[in-house]
Amino acid sequence: MTEPVLQVKDLKVNFNTYAGTVQAIRDVSFDLQPGETLSIVGESGSGKSVTTKTLMGLNAENADIPDTSELLFKGQNLLDLKEKDWENIRGDQIAMVFQDPMTSLDPTMKIGRQIAEPIIKHQKLSKEAANKRALELMEGVGIPNAKEHFNDYPHQWSGGMRQRAVIAIALAADPEVLIADEPTTALDVTIQAQILKMMKQQQERLHSSIIFITHDLGVVAGVADRVAVMYAGKIVEIGTVDEIFFNPKHPYTWGLLDSMPTTDTAQGSLQAIPGTPPDLLQPPKGDAFAERNQFALDVDYESQPPFFKVSNTHYAATWLLDERAPMVTPPEKIQRRWARWQAMQGQEAH
Ligand SMILES: Nc1ncnc2c1ncn2[C@@H]1O[C@H](COP(=O)(O)OP(=O)(O)OP(=O)(O)O)[C@@H](O)[C@H]1O
Ligand SMILES: [Mg+2]
Repeated sequence: MTEPVLQVKDLKVNFNTYAGTVQAIRDVSFDLQPGETLSIVGESGSGKSVTTKTLMGLNAENADIPDTSELLFKGQNLLDLKEKDWENIRGDQIAMVFQDPMTSLDPTMKIGRQIAEPIIKHQKLSKEAANKRALELMEGVGIPNAKEHFNDYPHQWSGGMRQRAVIAIALAADPEVLIADEPTTALDVTIQAQILKMMKQQQERLHSSIIFITHDLGVVAGVADRVAVMYAGKIVEIGTVDEIFFNPKHPYTWGLLDSMPTTDTAQGSLQAIPGTPPDLLQPPKGDAFAERNQFALDVDYESQPPFFKVSNTHYAATWLLDERAPMVTPPEKIQRRWARWQAMQGQEAH
């Protein structure tokens, strides 16, 4: 294994509110290798955006991160940075495409210039060369007649077009880590595919890393190397794409995969898991998923499960993997996935 570009260790993010302390991120740890794509999936409110905003030093004012948390970027703890040091990292070495595109565009600046500026700053190109590259990026993210629209302002564009501009800006700096928070949800399938391809091409050229947040597990399979599944402020399972898709161990992951749309059904929403996530003002003392887990054991209501190792790359935090747990048969659909995968492996071996 090479040295990770990013190591998140025991990240906790608490938000101070009038109602009390929201424990939004509860001990998240993961690392990111150069050149890899890690996808973060999980229901709304599970902590995907807060985790990644923390990596950009952009959390809300009421956020509190204890000193025991560490975010090592090429060995340096980002949590020790002063605001002026962030300037060299944010948007430059670590860039993010936000869920809400309007927040990241400057309404007073022409869009072409907003894309060209990070190129000038980062790649030290002349204005002319940077404009040319900006135009290429605009075309790459599917902006029709890009040249004519180079000098437009954000309000002249539709939401979908602005989303593409935001993606072009994030790619413009050639960042070492690109964080993409639901980057393509608002876009049609053809444009989605085009943008994902472009991200992948840049990644190959730079050997850079991507953190890709999505609800759409269908996208994950084609894009990610590894997947982290989040629930109620924790990673509950992490593994390679194949491990998560074909040999998932956490009942929450089973639920997510079960609610994944199959061909022809509409865009995936993850509502199919009955029940709702816990209140993070008062997280339960045991496994946060217990209330919704048809396989919950008594111990799930008492204490939080540690990570159990499934393979060198695959870990899941569920008491079902404890050696004292009863044998549990996963839902049929999940068993079929496993069978299909084994059959595929068998074919490859021949
Ligand atoms: N400034 C804040 N103050 C209080 N609570 C907050 C604040 N920002 C986020 N939260 C809470 O933190 C939790 C995690 O939110 P986050 O935005 O990371 O979810 P998410 O996984 O990105 O969801 P979605 O899929 O809807 O984007 C939620 O319970 C949210 O309400
Ligand atoms: Mg989010």
